[in-house]
Amino acid sequence: MPVAGILTGGGDAPGLNGVIRGAVHRLACAGWEVRGYLEGWQGVLTDRWITLTPEATRHIIAQGGTLLGSSRTNPYKQPDDLARVRTAFKALDALIAVGGDDTLGVAARLWKEERLPVIGVPKTIDNDLNQTDYTFGFDTAVNIAAEAMDRLWTTANSHRRVLVVECMGRKAGWITAYAGMATGADAILVPEQPVDLDDLCARLKRSREAGQEGNLVAVSEGAMLKPGDYEVQDATTDDFGNIRLGGVAKALAQLIEARTGLESRAVVLGHLQRGGTPTAHDRVLATRYGVAAAEAVLHSSFGRMVALQGDAVVEADIGPAVAELKLLPDERYRLAELFFAP
Ligand code: F6P
Repeated sequence: MPVAGILTGGGDAPGLNGVIRGAVHRLACAGWEVRGYLEGWQGVLTDRWITLTPEATRHIIAQGGTLLGSSRTNPYKQPDDLARVRTAFKALDALIAVGGDDTLGVAARLWKEERLPVIGVPKTIDNDLNQTDYTFGFDTAVNIAAEAMDRLWTTANSHRRVLVVECMGRKAGWITAYAGMATGADAILVPEQPVDLDDLCARLKRSREAGQEGNLVAVSEGAMLKPGDYEVQDATTDDFGNIRLGGVAKALAQLIEARTGLESRAVVLGHLQRGGTPTAHDRVLATRYGVAAAEAVLHSSFGRMVALQGDAVVEADIGPAVAELKLLPDERYRLAELFFAP
């Protein structure tokens, strides 16, 4: 019986279980055994896996997180680890790697340099992977952030405060822009656009002069304030060299308060955006990706990933997906900007 592995790596995203369920179901129907590797590439390195069956995965579609666990392990970090990966593949006819740019970057190298039979599935709440229009998890994260912002507007108005809401988004401001647009934020600050503090403060002040009660400012964790205005606090990096972000909202709230005299508070949404049950949209997208990844295994489309292009789930090269991040297009930001405080 042919054997496929599946793993989930990097930050989790609502919908991971839907991908697992979809892939397992389709592969089992075709007579394959499926091994679920635990905690991303870490499970491959240490040969820790569980057998996945349609019965065991039937009811996981609504569950957040990942049945398999996740990690940010990079098998290219330690010299001996690649040999362990090669050994693991001796028992596998294919491996489905579900992850963001780091996990898929490893998958791309394993195919390019070792010809190991991998298929990628794009995952990230940040929606910053190229080759695909949307990643699953993004819709859920946007809805969670938008719900929080709707709530924060009401308390901002009651207390005549500025509430600065920090969303995830290391290099791309998709979540911040979409949630901010959906809730009518007074300003949206994203990593792709320069931050003009003078302009922001002037807008907030003008809005109050025009009778507005409170303000909401949405900011991505990776938004770039001027050096001196804010420095990243935590230099801890993961296996892929990503630093741990968080805290820009606090710095921004202090700057706004100092410059405008308006009482300002910060809220960091953090991991709330990644946790909990996926939206129905993400469950369906995850299911389509999981089944498409299984189909790719069945016709040996190795070194490829599944992707949403328009309304179709297609196969695409992994290379371009991880070579450069998909940033928020300027045109989308200009649209959001039309609704900022004037
Ligand atoms: O990669 C997705 C992401 O959600 C980023 O937006 C965020 O910076 C990062 O994960 C946080 O990851 P961790 O939970 O490992 O700190």
